Amino acid sequence: MTNEDQHNPFLKWAGGKRWLSPKLVPLIKNELKKSEGEYFEPFLGAGAIFFALNPHKATLSDINSNLIEVYFEIKRNWLAIVNEIKTWPVNEEYYYSIRELVPTTRFKRACRFLYLNRTCYGGLYRENQLGQFNVPYGGGRDHKALWEKKLLQHASIVLNNNVNLLCSDFEAVMHNSTDGDVVYCDPTYSTKKRKQFDRYGKTIFSWADQLRLAVAAEQAMDRGALVIVSNSSCFQLNNFYPRAYRIDLEKTKTIGNKAHSKSVHQESIYILDPKSRRKLWSKLGTIVNKKSTSSIASKARDNPDFIHEFLGLSI
Ligand SMILES: C[S@@+](CC[C@H](N)C(=O)[O-])C[C@H]1O[C@@H](n2cnc3c(N)ncnc32)[C@H](O)[C@@H]1O
Repeated sequence: MTNEDQHNPFLKWAGGKRWLSPKLVPLIKNELKKSEGEYFEPFLGAGAIFFALNPHKATLSDINSNLIEVYFEIKRNWLAIVNEIKTWPVNEEYYYSIRELVPTTRFKRACRFLYLNRTCYGGLYRENQLGQFNVPYGGGRDHKALWEKKLLQHASIVLNNNVNLLCSDFEAVMHNSTDGDVVYCDPTYSTKKRKQFDRYGKTIFSWADQLRLAVAAEQAMDRGALVIVSNSSCFQLNNFYPRAYRIDLEKTKTIGNKAHSKSVHQESIYILDPKSRRKLWSKLGTIVNKKSTSSIASKARDNPDFIHEFLGLSI
């Protein structure tokens, strides 16, 4: 196991933030060291930032109950999981036989989830309308890294280190953040064109959700928490974060299983810093905007048609 493996997530997850962690994690680490606050990650997915950070106290949550169940099982039972899934071969026939199962225990559901996650096409998580996982076979990816690189063992150690796990919508969780805490939000993307874009299970992250997030982020900042929101670059979203510093970053993405097939993706990071430290955040990249004092929370409260005016959408 290399030092890097110790900090890697055990899941493959669309939109995972391993690429961002070398830049962002040292800044968050420093912040938490000074404030001794709690780390919140309310859109957990594979938790790339969390695992790289290994904070002294954290609340982790996601709306996907199957996902959170896996974290619970790894936290208390990683070795039994490894002993079970080590015996599962990787081939197309076996993959589909596991995909068809409807396990009735948490342990078996966690084993199935991990096996499918590692061996499916592109490491995607997608469900049909009935909530059934429906990603096809990946054609050769295997799940050995889970024990050979000790990904589950390490995850269990980190998760047993003062970590509170919740299955929840982000808003309720963010309301618990306070002075000195750091909240990192990485929601499912939305684009104006497709209106409701990414699906993670049965959930769609709508523009109304994006607005709820922006309001919750601002409120958390006003309680003294540092809030960092990642999002796909999209000019409409910039209007949702008038009091944030914005940094635009580029990420090269591999499409599906093909290493040679790549696309460039623009990501915006919104930083809501109660201490307004522009110089500090410019270490992450060029800050491309001027912060304003107008509040999104009061705009949304005072004008119910606000979202339509900004986006020209019916939601
Ligand atoms: C882009 S992924 C997060 C990826 C993560 N940062 C990583 O490194 O793997 C977005 C996550 O948000 C979750 N999600 C979507 N809607 C949500 C909501 N309303 N509340 C909480 N979590 C939500 C999805 O289940 C998904 O796991």
